[in-house]
Amino acid sequence: MRSSTIILILAATLLLADARPDPESNPIQLVTDGRVGSVVTNCRSWRLASEVNNFRNWRVVPAQCVKYVKNYITDIVAVETQYEADVAMVVAEAVEFLNSVPPTAGKNDTWLFDLTDTLLSSIPYYSSPDANFGGNAFNRTAFNDYIKEGKMPAVPAIKELYNEAQKKGFKVVILSGTSEDLREVLEANLKKAGFENWEKFILKKKPSMPTRDFKASERAQLKKDGYKVIGNVGDQWIDLLTGKNAGKRAFKIPNALYYVK
Ligand SMILES: *[C@@H]1O[C@H](CO)[C@@H](O)[C@H](O)[C@H]1NC(C)=O
Ligand SMILES: *[C@@H]1O[C@H](CO)[C@@H](O)[C@H](O)[C@H]1NC(C)=O
Ligand SMILES: [Mg+2]
Repeated sequence: MRSSTIILILAATLLLADARPDPESNPIQLVTDGRVGSVVTNCRSWRLASEVNNFRNWRVVPAQCVKYVKNYITDIVAVETQYEADVAMVVAEAVEFLNSVPPTAGKNDTWLFDLTDTLLSSIPYYSSPDANFGGNAFNRTAFNDYIKEGKMPAVPAIKELYNEAQKKGFKVVILSGTSEDLREVLEANLKKAGFENWEKFILKKKPSMPTRDFKASERAQLKKDGYKVIGNVGDQWIDLLTGKNAGKRAFKIPNALYYVK
């Protein structure tokens, strides 16, 4: 066979190999570029579109929806707010799934949790006039000041899932894009809010690294270290969709206050 023919066959083989789907890639691609700016005429539709990641990359809650978001987060209907009910629904589903897929002994089967607004809530901060239920632009300094108070309450219902994962023998890993500088206050806050134990608590050491890249690379690292993510829980799509080892199932905790791209 002539060498040019061999090269052609090799090239074709490589092309075919490339076309094979990566079994670990997520079919819902997380594309964060492209245009934003649909006209928002209905706040319930806006919130739903945002939750399912049709309406992306928004910087602030649309002005006409701030009151709606405030009601969603704070108005008690019967026994709980709509937000609390929505989180409880996700948690109930996740607990069902967790109990249906028991961990394999000695395999480091893992449940991965995001931190902010997945375990610890930023609602007290977002309820302040400065944050205005997401209607005002995000202020990193003010938000970090809130974290430093160490008083973030637990997100409603999530402890049930967190505790169940450990009880059933899963490893629990917390992965957060918050700065490593805040580790001490966050660990104390987690314990105060009732999250007692974890296998690993990973925070971001390089502030300039985009959180979505950071999360993807840390999940890949977890895989190298022998941790297989079974369940993945987060309030942002970047927690759930990018990169490998993103879990057999992802559970999206509602968040109507902000969108992280
Ligand atoms: C951000 O928050 C800090 C601390 O509360 C405040 O001093 C600063 O003025 C705020 N920046 C903006 C742009 O509002
Ligand atoms: C489980 O994790 C530990 C700690 O990283 C590691 O030493 C061990 O090899 C892992 N087990 C498996 C089966 O990958
Ligand atoms: Mg979060």
